[in-house]
Amino acid sequence: MSSLEIFENIDLNSQSWIQNPPTLYAKLHKRGPYFDGTKWLVARHAHVAAVLKSQAISKRIAVNTLGGTLENFLIFQDPPDHTRLRSVIQEFFSPRAIQQEEDMVAQVVVGLIRRVKERRRMEFIGDIASHLPSQIIGNLLGVPEESNLFLYEFAHNYFYDDTTNKSEAINALRLYFTNMVSKPYQVRPTSLLTRLMDAQLEGKISRAELIELCVLLFIGGSETMINLLGSGLLTLLQHPEALGLIQNNPALIPGAVEEMLRYEPPILTSTWRVTTEPLVLGDTEIPVGQPVEALLGAANRDPDKFPDPNRFDILRNPVGHFAFGAGIHFCIGAALTRMEAKVTLATLLAELPTLQLEKNKSMPYWQKVGNMGRRFLTLPVNENKSKNHQWRENAITHGLEYLNLTW
Ligand code: HEM
Repeated sequence: MSSLEIFENIDLNSQSWIQNPPTLYAKLHKRGPYFDGTKWLVARHAHVAAVLKSQAISKRIAVNTLGGTLENFLIFQDPPDHTRLRSVIQEFFSPRAIQQEEDMVAQVVVGLIRRVKERRRMEFIGDIASHLPSQIIGNLLGVPEESNLFLYEFAHNYFYDDTTNKSEAINALRLYFTNMVSKPYQVRPTSLLTRLMDAQLEGKISRAELIELCVLLFIGGSETMINLLGSGLLTLLQHPEALGLIQNNPALIPGAVEEMLRYEPPILTSTWRVTTEPLVLGDTEIPVGQPVEALLGAANRDPDKFPDPNRFDILRNPVGHFAFGAGIHFCIGAALTRMEAKVTLATLLAELPTLQLEKNKSMPYWQKVGNMGRRFLTLPVNENKSKNHQWRENAITHGLEYLNLTW
């Protein structure tokens, strides 16, 4: 059977992809790259690694074919521009620098939990997860605290309100940061935004590039983080042994976060790349000038890389998962994400030790979101075993619509 015949049986937009990705991944892993009539899809771990790490591949050419308003984002640049822009923010996001921000993140998390603690129930996505990333990124950028509400509402409407026009929303964010840098006294000294303004004065980046970096950091670090917190917490609450291990030994939390990233990666597919030389993957040669998309979620469930891939195992140490991509575009926010997720989980479990899924709610249903992923339309909050098992089999998500908890 040829790749094309195989692909005809696999519709990535179908309900089988949205409702049960692991079944589909098992099919995808059996064969090499697939051409879907528009682009090549790559699912095996080794092939995804080769695509993401290839130097004979361009983001710039790929985004030029898409059009739209995102083409000046760092994520769509090739060297040398990519290297120059990334070097301006690289150090700020290093694990060592991010470690210094742990207390700030913990304070934000504690503040959010205190608002709901007496209620003894919450909708985790709306009450906590969706507030966190905008406050943290706002604090790192050094914008005034009064902006938090705007940043939160922007993130919420952009990601959760399907009627919001995405380009208009991005332009609102551009305008916000343009106003901010035109009044530098508003920006906290020693913040990321101050550094970016210094880099502009030193001629390393232009004003337009500065604004695009701020917008990308905000967009790149918001929904991804919300989704990781929601899906990760849900998975943990559905695996009492793992939860027990963490409660007895919080030092296991970083390993658990890593496994959440492998098991429930918030982004299912990479952005497009275009080959600038022929790319050989197994028996298949992808010619020059072809768009390629790496299926990060599928690679994270490849049994050749992760034995028993559909098992959630916080002791697994899943080095080499692709939740953050790989190569020169490896997520710059990885250390921040790891720290933010670790602090949030540790604080939640300490403040609300009896945290659990609310019982007797409706069954899960996954909703397709754009081309990149899926999220729950309704949440399974019944602790009936078979229903929970169904969730575990539907493992990869773009995030939760809502998550009802009690304690
Ligand atoms: C759960 C959290 C996150 C996940 C799963 C995630 C995932 C990813 C992935 C897969 C890529 C590479 C995409 C590709 O190569 O096509 C990426 C790149 C990027 N991410 Fe993240 N991200 C997360 C959090 C963040 C945060 C917190 C920030 C910043 C505040 C951020 C900023 C970026 C930026 C700027 C890039 C582009 C890097 C480059 O092109 O050099 N991300 N992210």
